[in-house]
Amino acid sequence: MAVGIFDSGLGGLTVYRAAADRLPDVPFVYFGDNAHTPYGVRDADDIYELTTKGVTRLFEAGCDLVILACNTASAAALRRMQENWVPSDKRVLGVFVPLIEALTERQWGDNSPPREVGVQHVALFATPATVRSRAFQRELAFRAIGVDVEAQACAGVVDAIEDGDMILAEALVRSHVDALKRKMPDPDAAVLGCTHYPIVEEYFRSALGERVKVFSQPKLVAESLADYLERRPEMLGLGEVPMFLTTGDPERVSDQATRFLRRRIEFHAA
Ligand code: DGL
Repeated sequence: MAVGIFDSGLGGLTVYRAAADRLPDVPFVYFGDNAHTPYGVRDADDIYELTTKGVTRLFEAGCDLVILACNTASAAALRRMQENWVPSDKRVLGVFVPLIEALTERQWGDNSPPREVGVQHVALFATPATVRSRAFQRELAFRAIGVDVEAQACAGVVDAIEDGDMILAEALVRSHVDALKRKMPDPDAAVLGCTHYPIVEEYFRSALGERVKVFSQPKLVAESLADYLERRPEMLGLGEVPMFLTTGDPERVSDQATRFLRRRIEFHAA
């Protein structure tokens, strides 16, 4: 009854941790495409090819339901995958919708017309490919009116996190927040639109200041997954063994993952 979690690298572990806490009886199979991270600087075709390859591996591991715990893949590849590629007995879900539902104070499946919401000035921090896709603004426009979004493409942050260079990650986060504030001096909410960013969430929070409400995905996605599985329990696949798979160097990735999750994680070659 396994569920797959896909990311370009280590960022999806933030979603994995929240999902495993929320659904302790579900075995999760994690796939990190560490050999090809970051996706955020790649073009949409490239992201599509890599994502479908990784998701295929998760289907093979007995997962009928895969969460793309990667905004970049959700923004650049998910729609194309759902339209032409995902077999009818499988599901692939992204991480945007739960976030936008939280931001726009909506329950799952509320398809009523867009309306005014509590936030008006939203800062979006994401990878260059996610920002370029404008997927966030598109999904938001279905649900809210009168929300001004300023997006900051946070070049370099994912690489620094993957390399475990937290000093560089902090410096980059501060400079991206400064750049955003030059365009939008007083945001009332900030969205961490990359699953790597919760690893450095405290840097974002301290650079943004206390008045800015920060929306971070892991718990929102975990809640929405629990809700989905309650409605669709048959989507729990046949796999029974939790696993961590990587296209990168398993030893190195295991060490990094262990440091982030503060418990021993053993990755295997995908
Ligand atoms: N963690 C991913 C995301 O949510 C991917 C980052 C990357 O590979 O650039 O966008």
